[in-house]
Amino acid sequence: MASKTSQNYPAWLGEAVFYQVYPQSFADSNGDGIGDLPGLIGKLDYLKSLGVSAIWLNPIFDSPMGDAGYDVRDFLKIAPRYGTNGDARRLFRQAHARGLRVVLDLVAGHTSVEHRWFKQSCRHTRNKYSDYYIWTPNVWTQTPKGRWISGYGERDGNFLTNFFWFQPALNYGYAKPDPARPWQQPVNAPGPRAVRRELHNIMKFWLDAGCDGFRVDMASSLVKEDADGSTIRQLWAEFRGWLERKYPQAVLIAEWCNPKQAIDAGFYVDFMIHSGEPAYNHLFGAWNRICGDAREPHVFFERAGGGDISLFLKNYMEHYQATRGKGFISLPTGNHDFPRLHRGRSNKELRVIHAMLLTMPGVPFIYYGDEIGMDYMENLPSREGSYCNRTGTRTPMQWTPGKNKGFSTAKARDLYLPVDNRRQSPNVDSQEKDPASHLNFVRTLLRLRREYPALGNTADFTPIYAEQGQYPFVYERSDGRRSRLAVAVNPRLKPCSIRLPKLQNAKPLLADGATVERGKLNMEGISFGLFLLE
Ligand code: GLC
Ligand code: CA
Repeated sequence: MASKTSQNYPAWLGEAVFYQVYPQSFADSNGDGIGDLPGLIGKLDYLKSLGVSAIWLNPIFDSPMGDAGYDVRDFLKIAPRYGTNGDARRLFRQAHARGLRVVLDLVAGHTSVEHRWFKQSCRHTRNKYSDYYIWTPNVWTQTPKGRWISGYGERDGNFLTNFFWFQPALNYGYAKPDPARPWQQPVNAPGPRAVRRELHNIMKFWLDAGCDGFRVDMASSLVKEDADGSTIRQLWAEFRGWLERKYPQAVLIAEWCNPKQAIDAGFYVDFMIHSGEPAYNHLFGAWNRICGDAREPHVFFERAGGGDISLFLKNYMEHYQATRGKGFISLPTGNHDFPRLHRGRSNKELRVIHAMLLTMPGVPFIYYGDEIGMDYMENLPSREGSYCNRTGTRTPMQWTPGKNKGFSTAKARDLYLPVDNRRQSPNVDSQEKDPASHLNFVRTLLRLRREYPALGNTADFTPIYAEQGQYPFVYERSDGRRSRLAVAVNPRLKPCSIRLPKLQNAKPLLADGATVERGKLNMEGISFGLFLLE
């Protein structure tokens, strides 16, 4: 595989396209109703045929699954329902044999209350693990902001939790500890230092087993009360330096949602999603809009229009310019925490969305099932802490038209989550046979991304038309030498036309509802076009 060159990241990232696998819902090999690693290994050829080059796996470590595996009980053991450590090594080998990389989800900031460290930390008598977590001196301590759990276990103290109550925060220390608050330890105190060593050991363990890096969960949250982020940056810079020396091909991907900060801190990739920096929100909506807050303004990808692409661009460019050449922004097609973008939108609208997301710079991430246009399933009860709008996005992958859509041979009631059996629901097998399917559309986009360096992760991005409150959005991609392309998207029902001198000699490469005549771009309602320039 490609070697590390002089740039600031492993060379393979410059061409990588990721596919996110939610392991429990992807492919069940033993009929227990839950996806597993042997199931995933059986689908590697499919992933290869899709045209992706790397996989990000949601957590696969031993866990009571209170938060679908984001509550880790043992970082060094694969959850038995997914297989064994041997299966994980086999996955890495089998993936590598096909030129695919595998990145694991590293929940660095917290563990499960069932983790051995936490059980020891809960003990009345002081021990090696007492300071692995953040504890007040007794349960009556008045604690300031943060979520504190009181009355758990025999230790007289409250512990700080990061997400759900059962995810106690590991103690990486406080940026500016207040001596009057003894639970605020400096980052170089023995507890935080020991925790950093543990994190180091976990990473080393899985890199030595053959994985290609990590997506770091809540990456900005490790050091507490670090207003300017300088202390957390130091922590990640250390890890980055170590990786560069020992594992120069391994990547660090952040869930930070602020690429400027994350890449400055040492990450190679960071996501823009429905939280954190607002760029993605202007395209698809912020978290509160998704959860039904009607006060949220219109977004760009909305049939009725009313969105404002210039707001997206303003924020995006700020991060793009600050991170170019150093790392990558990812605008994923979705992930396990948000409703699928297909929700409330037609197949045609989804094509326009993917035409944009898969032709932007940075590292694309395709969430499993988005490539066939899987839909969001409404009103499902929470499963393993999925709550709110996460459940309907985590339903089983749809492989065939047959029983359980080919996901599993289990009885329907034993499945991890119900399969989408609605009449129109898509599946891989049927779409393989249909040249006009969404699957083949995504394949084509990824093929063009490979064939035209101008569409690649590192090639230039320049807006051509992105006016306040106006449609369409048009941008140029160029690799400086070999090719220049323009991409135009009109997600609105209303057609639009615009004269753009840059498009004077544009030739269509892949378009649906968009044409150029003597420098005039004509776009039907809900349309897109990729054009070769010159
Ligand atoms: C991240 C994960 C999410 C999880 C949370 C707590 O945001 O993506 O699924 O619940 O962290 O670990
Ligand atoms: Ca299984």
